[in-house]
Amino acid sequence: MISDGRPILDACCGSRMFWFDKDNPLVDFMDIRDEECTLSDGQLCIVHPNIIGDFTRMPFPDKSFRLVVFDPPHLVWAGKAANFYKRFGCLNRDWKTELAMGFSECFRVLDDYGVLVFKWAETQLKLKTVLSLTTEKPLFGHKRGHTFWICFMKTPKP
Ligand SMILES: C[S@@+](CC[C@H](N)C(=O)[O-])C[C@H]1O[C@@H](n2cnc3c(N)ncnc32)[C@H](O)[C@@H]1O
Repeated sequence: MISDGRPILDACCGSRMFWFDKDNPLVDFMDIRDEECTLSDGQLCIVHPNIIGDFTRMPFPDKSFRLVVFDPPHLVWAGKAANFYKRFGCLNRDWKTELAMGFSECFRVLDDYGVLVFKWAETQLKLKTVLSLTTEKPLFGHKRGHTFWICFMKTPKP
């Protein structure tokens, strides 16, 4: 698939919880699944990406986006009936390779000087461990509870 020219990618959008405008026309909302499920409290979890794709092999040319948001699953184990699993999914057994490929793909599809916003919930894996899976260095970040928001910029390599 060729990028349709939207400048922003949400690489694993889930139910788009953090977006003020969940149908923002500037954004390609991607996820590996397209489904609806019911949580234990009866709430619906609706995941309808406009692109079904895998963040380890993104269907976009190099340098397609100015901003990429990367909020991958942060669990390496979870019961399949748990709300957390239904809402946020789970990493593979080989989560190091999965996340390393995810970072690499985020930086590949970012244009030079584009911004990557990475979100991580430090429940099962430490942020430090996860950041060691990319050679890119974060600029700054913010922590609230267990959740970090980290900002990178893709700087051209000489
Ligand atoms: C932490 S949740 C994202 C939550 C989302 N930001 C929200 O606001 O609802 C992680 C998402 O990554 C998706 N996902 C898991 N593996 C993926 C992959 N290889 N490629 C793309 N999306 C993936 C899951 O389906 C899940 O919706």
